[in-house]
Amino acid sequence: MCLYDLSIDCADSKTAWRTDEEFAREMLAGVNPIIISRLQEFPPKSKLDPEAYGNQNSTITAEHIEDKLDGLTVDEAMNNNKLFILNHHDALIPYLRRINTTITKTYASRTLLFLQDNGSLKPLAIELSLPHPDGDQFGVTSKVYTPSDQGVESSIWQLAKAYVAVNDSGVHQLISHWLNTHAVIEPFVIATNRLHPIHKLLYPHFRDTMNINASARQILINAGGVLESTVFQSKFAMEMSAVVYKDWVFPDQALPADLVKRGVAVEDSSSPHGVRLLIEDYPYAVDGLEIWSAIKSWVTDYCSFYYGSDKEILKDNELQAWWKELREVGHGDKKNEPWWPEMETPQELIDSCTTIIWIASALHAAVNFGQYPYAGYLPNRPTVSRRFMPEPGTPEYEELKKNPDKAFLKTITAQLQTLLGVSLVEILSRHTTDEIYLGQRESPEWTKDKEPLAAFDRFGKKLKDIEKQIIQRNGDNILTNRSGPVNAPYTLLFPTSEGRLTGKGIPNSVSI
Ligand SMILES: [Fe+2]
Repeated sequence: MCLYDLSIDCADSKTAWRTDEEFAREMLAGVNPIIISRLQEFPPKSKLDPEAYGNQNSTITAEHIEDKLDGLTVDEAMNNNKLFILNHHDALIPYLRRINTTITKTYASRTLLFLQDNGSLKPLAIELSLPHPDGDQFGVTSKVYTPSDQGVESSIWQLAKAYVAVNDSGVHQLISHWLNTHAVIEPFVIATNRLHPIHKLLYPHFRDTMNINASARQILINAGGVLESTVFQSKFAMEMSAVVYKDWVFPDQALPADLVKRGVAVEDSSSPHGVRLLIEDYPYAVDGLEIWSAIKSWVTDYCSFYYGSDKEILKDNELQAWWKELREVGHGDKKNEPWWPEMETPQELIDSCTTIIWIASALHAAVNFGQYPYAGYLPNRPTVSRRFMPEPGTPEYEELKKNPDKAFLKTITAQLQTLLGVSLVEILSRHTTDEIYLGQRESPEWTKDKEPLAAFDRFGKKLKDIEKQIIQRNGDNILTNRSGPVNAPYTLLFPTSEGRLTGKGIPNSVSI
Protein backbone atom coordinates (compact mmCIF):
# COMPACT_ATOMS: atom_id res chain seq x y z
CA MET A 1 0.00 0.00 0.00
CA CYS A 2 1.46 3.35 -0.92
CA LEU A 3 -0.57 5.66 1.26
CA TYR A 4 2.51 7.03 2.95
CA ASP A 5 4.92 6.61 0.12
CA LEU A 6 5.51 10.05 -1.33
CA SER A 7 6.83 8.87 -4.68
CA ILE A 8 5.24 10.14 -7.90
CA ASP A 9 3.73 6.71 -8.66
CA CYS A 10 1.58 7.05 -5.64
CA ALA A 11 0.15 10.44 -6.51
CA ASP A 12 -2.40 8.85 -8.84
CA SER A 13 -3.76 6.40 -6.35
CA LYS A 14 -3.91 9.14 -3.74
CA THR A 15 -6.20 11.20 -5.92
CA ALA A 16 -8.25 8.05 -6.51
CA TRP A 17 -9.20 8.16 -2.84
CA ARG A 18 -11.21 11.31 -3.49
CA THR A 19 -13.22 10.08 -6.50
CA ASP A 20 -17.00 9.74 -6.25
CA GLU A 21 -16.58 6.02 -6.77
CA GLU A 22 -14.22 5.61 -3.81
CA PHE A 23 -16.23 8.05 -1.66
CA ALA A 24 -19.35 5.90 -2.13
CA ARG A 25 -17.59 2.54 -1.96
CA GLU A 26 -16.18 3.23 1.51
CA MET A 27 -19.73 3.38 2.85
CA LEU A 28 -19.90 -0.36 2.11
CA ALA A 29 -16.28 -1.38 2.71
CA GLY A 30 -14.48 1.28 4.72
CA VAL A 31 -13.83 2.13 8.34
CA ASN A 32 -17.48 2.99 9.04
CA PRO A 33 -19.66 0.69 6.91
CA ILE A 34 -22.51 0.62 9.44
CA ILE A 35 -24.29 3.92 8.83
CA ILE A 36 -25.64 3.69 5.27
CA SER A 37 -29.33 2.94 5.07
CA ARG A 38 -31.98 2.61 2.39
CA LEU A 39 -33.98 5.73 1.68
CA GLN A 40 -37.49 5.18 3.08
CA GLU A 41 -39.08 8.43 1.96
CA PHE A 42 -38.28 11.19 -0.49
CA PRO A 43 -37.36 13.84 0.27
CA PRO A 44 -35.91 12.56 3.57
CA LYS A 45 -37.77 13.79 6.66
CA SER A 46 -36.32 14.68 10.04
CA LYS A 47 -37.35 13.03 13.31
CA LEU A 48 -36.36 16.07 15.35
CA ASP A 49 -39.14 17.73 17.35
CA PRO A 50 -40.56 20.52 15.13
CA GLU A 51 -41.54 22.52 18.24
CA ALA A 52 -37.87 22.84 19.18
CA TYR A 53 -36.16 22.67 15.79
CA GLY A 54 -38.66 23.93 13.21
CA ASN A 55 -38.75 22.37 9.76
CA GLN A 56 -35.74 20.09 9.41
CA ASN A 57 -36.90 18.14 6.37
CA SER A 58 -34.61 17.80 3.39
CA THR A 59 -34.70 20.33 0.56
CA ILE A 60 -33.38 17.84 -1.99
CA THR A 61 -35.78 17.69 -4.93
CA ALA A 62 -36.30 15.26 -7.81
CA GLU A 63 -34.68 17.83 -10.14
CA HIS A 64 -31.41 17.55 -8.20
CA ILE A 65 -31.08 13.84 -8.81
CA GLU A 66 -33.40 12.60 -11.54
CA ASP A 67 -30.86 13.02 -14.37
CA LYS A 68 -28.53 10.58 -12.60
CA LEU A 69 -30.91 7.65 -12.01
CA ASP A 70 -30.09 5.74 -15.21
CA GLY A 71 -33.46 6.65 -16.71
CA LEU A 72 -35.55 5.88 -13.62
CA THR A 73 -37.82 8.33 -11.84
CA VAL A 74 -37.29 8.90 -8.14
CA ASP A 75 -40.33 6.72 -7.35
CA GLU A 76 -39.08 3.92 -9.58
CA ALA A 77 -35.63 4.08 -8.02
CA MET A 78 -37.17 3.96 -4.52
CA ASN A 79 -39.45 1.04 -5.43
CA ASN A 80 -36.49 -0.87 -6.85
CA ASN A 81 -34.42 -0.36 -3.65
CA LYS A 82 -31.90 1.78 -5.52
CA LEU A 83 -31.74 4.87 -3.32
CA PHE A 84 -29.63 5.00 -0.17
CA ILE A 85 -28.66 7.67 2.31
CA LEU A 86 -25.78 8.53 4.59
CA ASN A 87 -27.73 10.56 7.11
CA HIS A 88 -25.72 12.84 9.37
CA HIS A 89 -28.49 15.36 9.90
CA ASP A 90 -30.64 14.76 12.98
CA ALA A 91 -27.80 13.70 15.27
CA LEU A 92 -25.80 16.83 14.52
CA ILE A 93 -28.38 19.61 14.36
CA PRO A 94 -28.91 19.96 18.13
CA TYR A 95 -25.14 20.46 18.53
CA LEU A 96 -24.17 22.29 15.40
CA ARG A 97 -24.62 25.84 16.68
CA ARG A 98 -22.39 25.10 19.66
CA ILE A 99 -19.87 23.03 17.68
CA ASN A 100 -19.45 25.91 15.24
CA THR A 101 -18.44 28.22 18.09
CA THR A 102 -15.24 26.12 18.35
CA ILE A 103 -12.50 25.82 15.75
CA THR A 104 -14.86 23.56 13.77
CA LYS A 105 -16.94 25.11 11.01
CA THR A 106 -19.16 22.43 9.59
CA TYR A 107 -22.65 21.36 8.54
CA ALA A 108 -25.19 18.66 9.15
CA SER A 109 -25.30 16.54 6.01
CA ARG A 110 -27.47 14.18 4.03
CA THR A 111 -25.84 12.27 1.19
CA LEU A 112 -28.06 10.48 -1.33
CA LEU A 113 -26.63 7.56 -3.26
CA PHE A 114 -27.79 5.46 -6.17
CA LEU A 115 -27.20 1.72 -6.45
CA GLN A 116 -26.12 1.16 -10.04
CA ASP A 117 -26.75 -1.99 -12.05
CA ASN A 118 -23.08 -2.98 -11.64
CA GLY A 119 -23.64 -3.18 -7.86
CA SER A 120 -21.65 -0.08 -6.92
CA LEU A 121 -22.98 3.15 -5.48
CA LYS A 122 -22.63 6.65 -6.83
CA PRO A 123 -23.35 9.85 -4.94
CA LEU A 124 -26.31 11.86 -6.28
CA ALA A 125 -26.46 14.87 -4.04
CA ILE A 126 -25.13 16.24 -0.78
CA GLU A 127 -27.28 18.54 1.32
CA LEU A 128 -25.39 20.70 3.81
CA SER A 129 -27.43 22.39 6.52
CA LEU A 130 -26.85 24.96 9.25
CA PRO A 131 -29.22 25.98 12.06
CA HIS A 132 -31.21 29.03 10.99
CA PRO A 133 -29.36 32.22 12.00
CA ASP A 134 -32.53 33.61 13.65
CA GLY A 135 -33.00 30.68 16.02
CA ASP A 136 -33.59 26.94 16.23
CA GLN A 137 -37.37 27.24 15.83
CA PHE A 138 -36.88 28.56 12.28
CA GLY A 139 -35.35 25.28 11.14
CA VAL A 140 -32.29 25.17 8.94
CA THR A 141 -30.71 26.85 5.97
CA SER A 142 -29.73 24.15 3.52
CA LYS A 143 -27.93 23.94 0.21
CA VAL A 144 -27.82 21.00 -2.12
CA TYR A 145 -24.67 20.13 -4.06
CA THR A 146 -24.51 17.74 -6.99
CA PRO A 147 -21.53 16.01 -8.63
CA SER A 148 -19.34 17.99 -10.97
CA ASP A 149 -15.95 17.26 -12.47
CA GLN A 150 -15.16 20.61 -14.04
CA GLY A 151 -14.08 24.08 -12.96
CA VAL A 152 -14.87 25.63 -9.63
CA GLU A 153 -17.98 23.44 -9.33
CA SER A 154 -15.74 20.39 -9.09
CA SER A 155 -13.79 22.02 -6.25
CA ILE A 156 -17.07 22.84 -4.50
CA TRP A 157 -18.15 19.21 -4.92
CA GLN A 158 -14.82 17.98 -3.46
CA LEU A 159 -15.43 20.24 -0.45
CA ALA A 160 -19.01 19.00 -0.07
CA LYS A 161 -17.68 15.42 0.07
CA ALA A 162 -15.05 16.55 2.59
CA TYR A 163 -17.77 17.90 4.93
CA VAL A 164 -19.53 14.53 4.69
CA ALA A 165 -16.25 12.77 5.46
CA VAL A 166 -15.76 15.05 8.48
CA ASN A 167 -19.21 14.14 9.82
CA ASP A 168 -18.69 10.46 9.15
CA SER A 169 -15.24 10.53 10.82
CA GLY A 170 -16.65 12.03 13.98
CA VAL A 171 -19.68 9.75 14.06
CA HIS A 172 -17.42 6.78 13.41
CA GLN A 173 -15.01 7.54 16.24
CA LEU A 174 -17.61 8.52 18.84
CA ILE A 175 -20.61 6.41 17.96
CA SER A 176 -19.66 3.43 15.77
CA HIS A 177 -16.38 2.84 17.58
CA TRP A 178 -16.36 4.22 21.12
CA LEU A 179 -20.05 4.05 22.09
CA ASN A 180 -21.28 1.01 20.16
CA THR A 181 -18.31 -1.27 20.92
CA HIS A 182 -15.98 -0.10 23.73
CA ALA A 183 -18.50 1.50 26.05
CA VAL A 184 -21.54 -0.78 25.73
CA ILE A 185 -19.53 -3.98 26.26
CA GLU A 186 -18.14 -2.82 29.61
CA PRO A 187 -21.16 -3.70 31.77
CA PHE A 188 -21.08 -7.21 30.30
CA VAL A 189 -17.40 -7.52 31.23
CA ILE A 190 -18.03 -6.54 34.84
CA ALA A 191 -21.13 -8.63 35.35
CA THR A 192 -19.70 -11.69 33.60
CA ASN A 193 -16.61 -11.77 35.76
CA ARG A 194 -18.87 -13.45 38.29
CA LEU A 195 -20.22 -16.30 36.19
CA HIS A 196 -19.69 -20.05 35.55
CA PRO A 197 -20.11 -21.88 32.16
CA ILE A 198 -21.15 -18.63 30.56
CA HIS A 199 -18.16 -16.97 32.21
CA LYS A 200 -15.95 -19.50 30.43
CA LEU A 201 -17.67 -18.80 27.11
CA LEU A 202 -17.44 -15.01 27.28
CA TYR A 203 -14.24 -14.46 29.27
CA PRO A 204 -11.85 -14.33 26.24
CA HIS A 205 -14.03 -11.66 24.67
CA PHE A 206 -13.41 -9.25 27.52
CA ARG A 207 -9.62 -9.46 27.57
CA ASP A 208 -8.01 -6.06 28.27
CA THR A 209 -11.24 -4.15 27.64
CA MET A 210 -11.31 -2.61 31.11
CA ASN A 211 -7.63 -1.61 30.73
CA ILE A 212 -8.06 0.06 27.36
CA ASN A 213 -11.24 1.83 28.43
CA ALA A 214 -9.57 3.08 31.63
CA SER A 215 -6.66 4.45 29.57
CA ALA A 216 -9.11 5.98 27.11
CA ARG A 217 -10.90 7.76 29.95
CA GLN A 218 -7.58 9.17 31.21
CA ILE A 219 -6.03 10.45 27.99
CA LEU A 220 -8.33 9.96 25.02
CA ILE A 221 -11.96 10.78 25.70
CA ASN A 222 -11.42 12.94 28.81
CA ALA A 223 -12.20 16.67 28.75
CA GLY A 224 -9.39 18.33 26.82
CA GLY A 225 -8.08 14.93 25.69
CA VAL A 226 -6.90 13.70 22.31
CA LEU A 227 -10.34 12.80 20.95
CA GLU A 228 -11.77 16.28 21.48
CA SER A 229 -8.97 17.77 19.43
CA THR A 230 -9.23 15.23 16.61
CA VAL A 231 -13.00 14.98 15.91
CA PHE A 232 -15.19 17.78 14.70
CA GLN A 233 -17.60 17.58 17.66
CA SER A 234 -14.81 19.09 19.75
CA LYS A 235 -15.73 19.65 23.42
CA PHE A 236 -19.28 18.33 22.82
CA ALA A 237 -17.99 14.92 21.76
CA MET A 238 -18.75 12.92 24.89
CA GLU A 239 -22.07 14.63 25.50
CA MET A 240 -23.18 13.68 21.98
CA SER A 241 -22.10 10.11 22.55
CA ALA A 242 -24.14 9.95 25.77
CA VAL A 243 -27.23 11.33 24.02
CA VAL A 244 -26.97 8.81 21.18
CA TYR A 245 -26.71 6.01 23.77
CA LYS A 246 -30.36 6.74 24.65
CA ASP A 247 -31.23 5.15 21.27
CA TRP A 248 -28.97 2.11 21.71
CA VAL A 249 -30.99 -1.12 21.50
CA PHE A 250 -29.23 -4.32 22.51
CA PRO A 251 -31.10 -6.81 20.23
CA ASP A 252 -30.55 -4.48 17.26
CA GLN A 253 -26.81 -4.97 17.60
CA ALA A 254 -27.20 -8.48 16.16
CA LEU A 255 -25.89 -8.12 12.61
CA PRO A 256 -28.98 -9.47 10.78
CA ALA A 257 -31.25 -7.24 12.89
CA ASP A 258 -28.99 -4.23 12.24
CA LEU A 259 -29.05 -4.82 8.47
CA VAL A 260 -32.85 -5.20 8.42
CA LYS A 261 -33.31 -2.13 10.63
CA ARG A 262 -31.19 -0.06 8.25
CA GLY A 263 -33.25 -1.41 5.33
CA VAL A 264 -30.19 -2.75 3.52
CA ALA A 265 -31.48 -6.31 3.94
CA VAL A 266 -34.86 -7.99 4.20
CA GLU A 267 -35.79 -11.09 6.15
CA ASP A 268 -35.74 -14.12 3.88
CA SER A 269 -35.82 -17.64 5.27
CA SER A 270 -34.53 -19.10 1.99
CA SER A 271 -31.25 -17.11 2.24
CA PRO A 272 -28.31 -18.79 4.01
CA HIS A 273 -28.26 -16.41 7.00
CA GLY A 274 -32.00 -15.65 7.12
CA VAL A 275 -31.63 -12.28 5.43
CA ARG A 276 -31.22 -11.18 1.81
CA LEU A 277 -28.98 -8.19 1.12
CA LEU A 278 -30.50 -5.48 -1.08
CA ILE A 279 -26.95 -4.37 -1.92
CA GLU A 280 -25.52 -7.72 -2.95
CA ASP A 281 -21.87 -6.62 -3.04
CA TYR A 282 -21.76 -5.08 0.46
CA PRO A 283 -18.43 -6.44 1.71
CA TYR A 284 -18.92 -5.64 5.43
CA ALA A 285 -22.33 -7.32 5.42
CA VAL A 286 -21.33 -10.30 3.25
CA ASP A 287 -18.25 -11.18 5.33
CA GLY A 288 -20.03 -10.14 8.53
CA LEU A 289 -22.96 -12.52 8.01
CA GLU A 290 -20.53 -15.43 7.55
CA ILE A 291 -18.75 -14.55 10.78
CA TRP A 292 -22.05 -13.90 12.58
CA SER A 293 -23.38 -17.33 11.62
CA ALA A 294 -20.15 -19.07 12.67
CA ILE A 295 -20.33 -17.40 16.10
CA LYS A 296 -24.01 -18.27 16.41
CA SER A 297 -23.44 -21.98 15.61
CA TRP A 298 -20.62 -22.14 18.12
CA VAL A 299 -22.63 -20.43 20.87
CA THR A 300 -25.64 -22.65 20.14
CA ASP A 301 -23.54 -25.80 20.48
CA TYR A 302 -21.92 -24.55 23.68
CA CYS A 303 -25.04 -23.30 25.45
CA SER A 304 -27.16 -26.29 24.43
CA PHE A 305 -24.68 -28.60 26.19
CA TYR A 306 -25.35 -26.88 29.55
CA TYR A 307 -28.95 -25.73 29.16
CA GLY A 308 -31.52 -28.11 27.70
CA SER A 309 -34.74 -26.45 28.82
CA ASP A 310 -36.34 -23.21 29.98
CA LYS A 311 -36.40 -24.65 33.48
CA GLU A 312 -32.63 -25.01 33.57
CA ILE A 313 -32.24 -21.39 32.57
CA LEU A 314 -34.75 -20.17 35.16
CA LYS A 315 -33.36 -22.15 38.09
CA ASP A 316 -29.78 -20.98 37.47
CA ASN A 317 -29.55 -18.25 40.10
CA GLU A 318 -26.13 -17.06 39.01
CA LEU A 319 -27.25 -16.69 35.41
CA GLN A 320 -30.35 -14.76 36.48
CA ALA A 321 -28.32 -12.52 38.83
CA TRP A 322 -25.80 -11.82 36.04
CA TRP A 323 -28.50 -10.75 33.62
CA LYS A 324 -30.27 -8.68 36.27
CA GLU A 325 -27.08 -6.86 37.20
CA LEU A 326 -26.12 -5.89 33.72
CA ARG A 327 -29.62 -4.72 32.87
CA GLU A 328 -30.32 -2.88 36.10
CA VAL A 329 -26.86 -1.72 37.19
CA GLY A 330 -24.39 -1.87 34.26
CA HIS A 331 -26.70 -0.60 31.55
CA GLY A 332 -28.82 0.92 34.35
CA ASP A 333 -29.96 3.92 32.31
CA LYS A 334 -31.74 1.42 30.07
CA LYS A 335 -33.21 -0.83 32.76
CA ASN A 336 -36.82 -0.05 31.83
CA GLU A 337 -36.41 -0.72 28.14
CA PRO A 338 -38.97 -3.25 26.85
CA TRP A 339 -36.52 -4.87 24.45
CA TRP A 340 -34.24 -6.61 26.93
CA PRO A 341 -34.38 -10.41 26.53
CA GLU A 342 -35.98 -11.81 29.70
CA MET A 343 -33.43 -14.63 29.94
CA GLU A 344 -36.08 -17.30 30.36
CA THR A 345 -35.16 -19.65 27.50
CA PRO A 346 -31.97 -21.21 26.07
CA GLN A 347 -32.66 -19.26 22.85
CA GLU A 348 -32.52 -15.94 24.71
CA LEU A 349 -29.19 -16.98 26.23
CA ILE A 350 -27.83 -18.03 22.82
CA ASP A 351 -28.99 -14.85 21.09
CA SER A 352 -27.62 -12.61 23.83
CA CYS A 353 -24.21 -14.33 23.99
CA THR A 354 -23.91 -14.30 20.18
CA THR A 355 -24.55 -10.56 20.12
CA ILE A 356 -22.08 -9.90 22.96
CA ILE A 357 -19.34 -11.89 21.19
CA TRP A 358 -20.18 -10.19 17.87
CA ILE A 359 -19.83 -6.68 19.36
CA ALA A 360 -16.60 -7.49 21.19
CA SER A 361 -14.92 -9.25 18.26
CA ALA A 362 -16.08 -8.65 14.68
CA LEU A 363 -18.02 -5.39 15.06
CA HIS A 364 -15.13 -3.79 16.91
CA ALA A 365 -12.58 -5.15 14.42
CA ALA A 366 -14.62 -3.74 11.52
CA VAL A 367 -14.69 -0.22 12.96
CA ASN A 368 -11.27 -0.24 14.60
CA PHE A 369 -8.55 -1.81 12.48
CA GLY A 370 -9.42 0.04 9.28
CA GLN A 371 -8.70 3.40 10.83
CA TYR A 372 -5.13 3.60 9.56
CA PRO A 373 -5.65 1.94 6.15
CA TYR A 374 -8.86 3.83 5.29
CA ALA A 375 -8.61 6.99 7.37
CA GLY A 376 -4.85 7.56 7.73
CA TYR A 377 -4.69 9.82 4.68
CA LEU A 378 -6.50 12.91 5.90
CA PRO A 379 -7.28 14.63 2.59
CA ASN A 380 -9.43 11.59 1.82
CA ARG A 381 -11.09 11.51 5.20
CA PRO A 382 -10.62 14.79 7.07
CA THR A 383 -11.71 14.84 10.70
CA VAL A 384 -12.42 18.55 11.11
CA SER A 385 -13.52 21.38 8.82
CA ARG A 386 -12.39 24.85 9.78
CA ARG A 387 -14.39 27.11 7.51
CA PHE A 388 -17.64 27.13 5.59
CA MET A 389 -18.20 26.55 1.89
CA PRO A 390 -17.01 29.60 -0.10
CA GLU A 391 -19.88 31.68 -1.50
CA PRO A 392 -19.64 33.38 -4.93
CA GLY A 393 -18.41 36.96 -4.62
CA THR A 394 -16.17 36.34 -1.62
CA PRO A 395 -12.31 36.35 -1.53
CA GLU A 396 -12.48 32.68 -0.47
CA TYR A 397 -14.44 31.83 -3.64
CA GLU A 398 -11.79 33.57 -5.78
CA GLU A 399 -9.08 31.66 -3.94
CA LEU A 400 -10.93 28.41 -4.59
CA LYS A 401 -11.04 29.18 -8.31
CA LYS A 402 -7.30 30.03 -8.44
CA ASN A 403 -5.94 27.33 -6.17
CA PRO A 404 -8.49 24.68 -5.21
CA ASP A 405 -5.94 22.46 -3.43
CA LYS A 406 -4.84 25.30 -1.17
CA ALA A 407 -8.47 26.19 -0.38
CA PHE A 408 -9.18 22.53 0.35
CA LEU A 409 -6.23 22.28 2.75
CA LYS A 410 -7.27 25.51 4.50
CA THR A 411 -10.69 23.93 5.08
CA ILE A 412 -9.82 20.45 6.32
CA THR A 413 -7.98 19.37 9.48
CA ALA A 414 -4.98 21.58 10.32
CA GLN A 415 -1.45 20.20 10.09
CA LEU A 416 -0.77 19.70 13.80
CA GLN A 417 -4.16 18.10 14.42
CA THR A 418 -3.56 15.89 11.39
CA LEU A 419 -0.29 14.63 12.86
CA LEU A 420 -1.99 13.98 16.18
CA GLY A 421 -4.91 12.26 14.48
CA VAL A 422 -2.75 10.07 12.23
CA SER A 423 -0.60 9.04 15.21
CA LEU A 424 -3.74 8.12 17.11
CA VAL A 425 -5.27 6.00 14.34
CA GLU A 426 -1.95 4.29 13.73
CA ILE A 427 -1.77 3.23 17.38
CA LEU A 428 -5.44 2.18 17.41
CA SER A 429 -5.03 0.09 14.24
CA ARG A 430 -2.17 -2.06 15.61
CA HIS A 431 -2.62 -5.56 16.93
CA THR A 432 -0.73 -6.45 20.09
CA THR A 433 2.15 -8.93 19.73
CA ASP A 434 0.20 -11.50 21.75
CA GLU A 435 -3.18 -10.96 20.08
CA ILE A 436 -5.65 -13.85 20.40
CA TYR A 437 -8.03 -14.04 17.45
CA LEU A 438 -11.58 -15.32 17.09
CA GLY A 439 -11.56 -19.11 17.21
CA GLN A 440 -8.48 -19.17 19.46
CA ARG A 441 -8.12 -19.44 23.25
CA GLU A 442 -5.20 -18.69 25.53
CA SER A 443 -5.00 -22.32 26.58
CA PRO A 444 -6.31 -25.41 24.78
CA GLU A 445 -7.43 -26.79 28.16
CA TRP A 446 -9.94 -24.08 28.92
CA THR A 447 -12.64 -26.62 29.74
CA LYS A 448 -12.73 -30.30 30.57
CA ASP A 449 -16.02 -30.87 28.75
CA LYS A 450 -15.40 -32.78 25.54
CA GLU A 451 -18.46 -31.74 23.51
CA PRO A 452 -17.82 -28.00 23.91
CA LEU A 453 -14.15 -28.58 23.00
CA ALA A 454 -15.18 -30.39 19.82
CA ALA A 455 -17.64 -27.61 18.98
CA PHE A 456 -14.90 -25.01 19.48
CA ASP A 457 -12.68 -26.97 17.14
CA ARG A 458 -15.44 -26.87 14.50
CA PHE A 459 -15.77 -23.11 15.04
CA GLY A 460 -12.02 -22.67 14.34
CA LYS A 461 -12.27 -24.74 11.16
CA LYS A 462 -15.31 -22.77 9.98
CA LEU A 463 -13.37 -19.51 10.44
CA LYS A 464 -10.50 -20.92 8.35
CA ASP A 465 -13.05 -21.68 5.60
CA ILE A 466 -14.34 -18.13 5.85
CA GLU A 467 -10.78 -16.82 5.40
CA LYS A 468 -10.48 -18.80 2.17
CA GLN A 469 -13.82 -17.45 0.94
CA ILE A 470 -12.79 -13.86 1.70
CA ILE A 471 -9.58 -14.31 -0.29
CA GLN A 472 -11.64 -15.78 -3.12
CA ARG A 473 -14.19 -12.94 -3.08
CA ASN A 474 -11.40 -10.35 -3.02
CA GLY A 475 -9.96 -11.94 -6.15
CA ASP A 476 -13.32 -11.82 -7.95
CA ASN A 477 -13.26 -8.75 -10.17
CA ILE A 478 -17.05 -8.75 -10.59
CA LEU A 479 -17.28 -7.72 -6.92
CA THR A 480 -16.11 -4.17 -7.55
CA ASN A 481 -16.95 -2.85 -4.10
CA ARG A 482 -14.32 -5.08 -2.47
CA SER A 483 -11.19 -3.39 -3.83
CA GLY A 484 -12.37 -0.19 -5.48
CA PRO A 485 -10.34 2.19 -7.61
CA VAL A 486 -7.46 2.26 -5.08
CA ASN A 487 -7.16 -1.52 -5.23
CA ALA A 488 -7.22 -2.03 -1.46
CA PRO A 489 -9.23 -5.24 -0.89
CA TYR A 490 -11.63 -5.36 2.06
CA THR A 491 -10.00 -7.57 4.69
CA LEU A 492 -11.27 -6.10 7.97
CA LEU A 493 -13.33 -9.23 8.72
CA PHE A 494 -10.55 -11.66 7.75
CA PRO A 495 -10.30 -13.56 11.05
CA THR A 496 -6.51 -13.70 11.61
CA SER A 497 -3.55 -11.43 11.01
CA GLU A 498 0.11 -12.26 10.69
CA GLY A 499 1.40 -8.75 11.30
CA ARG A 500 0.50 -5.86 13.55
CA LEU A 501 -0.62 -3.13 11.13
CA THR A 502 -2.37 -5.16 8.46
CA GLY A 503 -5.99 -3.98 8.27
CA LYS A 504 -7.15 -7.50 9.04
CA GLY A 505 -7.66 -9.87 11.96
CA ILE A 506 -10.58 -10.19 14.39
CA PRO A 507 -9.28 -10.25 17.97
CA ASN A 508 -11.58 -11.90 20.50
CA SER A 509 -11.99 -8.70 22.48
CA VAL A 510 -12.07 -4.91 22.41
CA SER A 511 -8.51 -4.28 23.57
CA ILE A 512 -7.30 -1.23 21.61
FE1 LIG B 1 -11.06 0.32 19.57
